[in-house]
Amino acid sequence: MTDAQSFYGRWAAVYDRLASAPGVSSWRERTADALALSPGDTVVEMGCGTGANVPVLREHVGPAGRVIGVDVTREMLDRARERPARTGESVHYVRADAARPPVRDVDAVLATFVAGIFEDPAAAVDAWCDSVRPGGRVALLNFQRSPSALAAPLNVAFEGFVRLSASGTRLSRQSHASAFERRVAAARERLTDRTTERRYETMAGGFVGLLSGTIA
Ligand SMILES: C[S@@+](CC[C@H](N)C(=O)[O-])C[C@H]1O[C@@H](n2cnc3c(N)ncnc32)[C@H](O)[C@@H]1O
Repeated sequence: MTDAQSFYGRWAAVYDRLASAPGVSSWRERTADALALSPGDTVVEMGCGTGANVPVLREHVGPAGRVIGVDVTREMLDRARERPARTGESVHYVRADAARPPVRDVDAVLATFVAGIFEDPAAAVDAWCDSVRPGGRVALLNFQRSPSALAAPLNVAFEGFVRLSASGTRLSRQSHASAFERRVAAARERLTDRTTERRYETMAGGFVGLLSGTIA
């Protein structure tokens, strides 16, 4: 069992409440919009957790489409499967390592609050880009420290979030926030190298960043 699995396995219930908090859903809607999905599309969420993105993804691909959630932690997937809005004929959950995507030639991939977890985020992003057909889109949503002075309390929350989520991982032996940010930066750089028609937007006073692009 990896550090991430044991951490998210223990905290699945708490995580699910945070992931479904009011306000977070607008970030999820903007991420789904950035994928430019059409009815009938197949979209894969890497590190889908408790399936908080699934309802909005389902809406975008419609009943003829498919939403595939990939996660390594059984307890997180169990929570997703318990929620009627996060299940259905068009929704499939796969327990697998997202660094080795179990499906290929899909229309879009997203990873929300996930890239900073991978020890080699650039390799993970490469694998995600390889799994998307030409013309499909990939989106990464991540927390980050905000440059806005008004966001100082959120930056403290960011440090707390990283400490909590890095608990038991190698990040906890480094400067938490900066190591986490280096990983997110590496993921974004690789997505930038691999895509065209990129869009970058920030939310929550700059505390959340969304980068998306099209596979050439
Ligand atoms: C912060 S949660 C994000 C969950 C979801 N994307 C969301 O927005 O609420 C990170 C998730 O990544 C999963 N994860 C971590 N490493 C993974 C890996 N190598 N492969 C698949 N999932 C992984 C964890 O189990 C956890 O569910």
